[in-house]
Parts: sequence; C-alpha cells; structure tokens
Amino acid sequence: MKEVKAVLYGVGAVGSLIAKSLLEKEGLKIVGAVDVAKDKVGKDLGEVLGLKGKLGITISNDVDKLFSATKADIAIHATSSYLRDTYHQIASLIKHGVNVISTCEELSYPYHSEPKLAKELDALAKKHDVTVLGTGINPGFLMDTLVITLTAVCQKIEKIEAVRVMNAATRRLPFQKKIGAGLTVEEFKQKIESGQISGHVGLEQSIAMTADALAWKLEKIRAEPVEPVIAKEPVESEAIKVEAGKVAGLRQIARGFMNKKEVIVLDFQAYIGAKEEYDAITITGVPTIRQKIQPCVHGDMGTVAMVVNSIPKVLNAPAGLLTMKDLPVPSAVTEHMRKYISS
Ligand SMILES: NC(=O)c1ccc[n+]([C@@H]2O[C@H](COP(=O)([O-])OP(=O)(O)OC[C@H]3O[C@@H](n4cnc5c(N)ncnc54)[C@H](OP(=O)(O)O)[C@@H]3O)[C@@H](O)[C@H]2O)c1
Repeated sequence: MKEVKAVLYGVGAVGSLIAKSLLEKEGLKIVGAVDVAKDKVGKDLGEVLGLKGKLGITISNDVDKLFSATKADIAIHATSSYLRDTYHQIASLIKHGVNVISTCEELSYPYHSEPKLAKELDALAKKHDVTVLGTGINPGFLMDTLVITLTAVCQKIEKIEAVRVMNAATRRLPFQKKIGAGLTVEEFKQKIESGQISGHVGLEQSIAMTADALAWKLEKIRAEPVEPVIAKEPVESEAIKVEAGKVAGLRQIARGFMNKKEVIVLDFQAYIGAKEEYDAITITGVPTIRQKIQPCVHGDMGTVAMVVNSIPKVLNAPAGLLTMKDLPVPSAVTEHMRKYISS
C-alpha cells in the first residue's frame, strides 16, 4: 500500500512530539520539515528530535522550494495560536495543493474571531482541492468535540459546563511559560497586559463550535480576564520552581449567552501543583449528563493523537476549511494508515 507523505511545518515542542509519533506509524512517511528557528534550519530532523541516527530530512526555511520538490499529501502545521499570524503560512501550503492539519487554536473554529480570513481560507482550499483542519486537545476535543458528541443523547439541553484542571508540571516547557508559572503576581499582570502571556487560547472557539453544532444563536461569548493561580506552598516542575505567593499558573473562564442566560460555561485551570486533575462535562437537560475523565487527558499526548488520528479523516474529507464538528466521529489510527483512507 502506498504511504501517506507528510511534511512538518513547525518543529517546536508540539511539532517534535507529532514527528516522533508519525515516525512510529505504519503507512506514513515524513518527507520534509520546515521551521524558522536558527538552531533548527539546516539540521537533520533526527538530530533536532534528539534521535540517535539521522533521518535524511534537512529542516528547511524555504516553504516554496520544499513543497515544489516534495509531493506531500499532508502538512502538519504547529507554529502559533492566532490565525492572523498563521494565515499566510497555511495559505502557502494550500497553494501547493497540500492538505493541512494545524494546531493553531483560532483555526479550530475561525468563524468566531476571524470570519473574513476563515472565508478566504475556505475559498482558497476549495480552489486548490485540499482540506484544512484546526485541531488539538483543547480546542479540538475536550471542550468542544467531546461536548458536542455527548449532547447526542440529550433530548433537551438547558446548560453546558466543562471544566479542565491540569497540573502544568506534566506539560511541555513553552506551555508552562505561556501560563506564567514562576512569575510574581505583578509580573503576571504586566505580561498579560502587554500580550507577552496570552493565557489559554481557544475557549471562545470551543463555545462557538458547540453552539454552531446545536444551531444555538448566541448573543455573546465573553471570556473573563485571565486570573493567576497563586501557589499556597512551594511547588515545582522539572524546569520551574514556584515559591509560595508566586504564580503557579492560570485560570480562565468563558461564557456563552443565549436568551440572556448563560448556556455554555468553560472553566480552564492549568497550574503547577494541581492536586486533582480532571476533565468534567455537565450537560443539564433531559437527561442530565455528568462525565468526568480522571486524571485529565494529558494535553501533549492528546494533542499529538488528535492531529495524527485526524490525518485519514482529513484525506477522506471534501475540500475546504473544516472544523472538528464537520468530520466523522473521531477515532484512533492503530493500523496501517492507508486502511483508513478511502481512495
Ligand atoms: N489546539 C491545541 O490543543 C494545541 C495543543 C498544543 C499546542 N497548540 C499550539 O500549537 C502551537 C505550537 O506549539 P509549540 O508548543 O510546539 O510551540 P513552539 O515550541 O514555540 O514551536 C513552534 C515552532 O514553530 C516555529 N515557527 C514559528 N513561526 C514559524 C514560521 N513562520 N514558519 C516556520 N516555523 C515557524 C518556531 O520557531 P521560533 O521558535 O524561532 O519562533 C518553533 O520552532 C502553539 O500555538 C500552541 O499554542 C495547540
């Protein structure tokens, strides 16, 4: 069976984990890699991944050259969180006729924050007959796709609540930095104000995707200000030590309103030292559903799985910009990749 040819676009913390998972998959071959980081460009992918041997794939910073020389089926894109920053990167892949799966949070449901760019990407993808998907663990699954799937057993729904609590010590270093772990409260506030710390990106996208699946016309989606979680006692990860009174991470809540009532509430908490880790969903309705995954799904492992497992779904899908709610029920790829691909 012919192998699926994949190119990595962004070989940072997440891109590297995805690459390692792809190397273990039967029926898929990595044929190229793109990054802009000076310490990666020109190096062999195996070296950047910390493998013993070379893979014979040199990391390039020239997208056009690489994609002209490589006939890839799919690009795995993992560079940044906002569509404004990633739009041209994704558009260049589409123009080379390559399907795209991206971890860009805003792309998971871009119609909320970037409707114009979303329309343009959709038109471009259709023109070049490729499929584009934004996915990951959150946004991409735990607070949207899983929630939407659970609503399938409800006859009526009054309210949806999802809470994710995770111990950030188990996550990659860029994530721990992104949530402000180790800062003083003052530094945290300054970095939030200056945009150096974005907090978690994607809660509004998850709310909008869920509402869209239910055909709920929300009056507004409101993300509350990001709050620091302050360590009551010293806590630490392998890389960051947090003294008592300093910031261990953050909490962020977003709410969706319909008919002047709060109908979707998402509560995201990520901090070093969280004692109980879980993903909980409550759907108040007929019947009321209470689901809890304990401990919470590991964010990095879950992201890698969501991206890799989405490859056949994307290759089977019609052209255009799709979101997780447009694809068939998500499932794992455990066999030869081609067994899941229809043509
Ligand atoms: N949806 C989800 O559930 C989910 C889960 C995990 C991660 N994410 C998102 O996925 C993205 C990647 O995460 P990460 O932790 O891997 O970040 P990271 O470690 O910073 O890696 C990003 C890599 O992409 C490179 N890059 C930046 N701009 C580029 C460009 N224009 N062309 C090629 N390469 C470029 C970066 O180089 P420099 O270092 O030189 O900038 C870096 O090597 C983040 O936005 C993260 O928030 C989403």
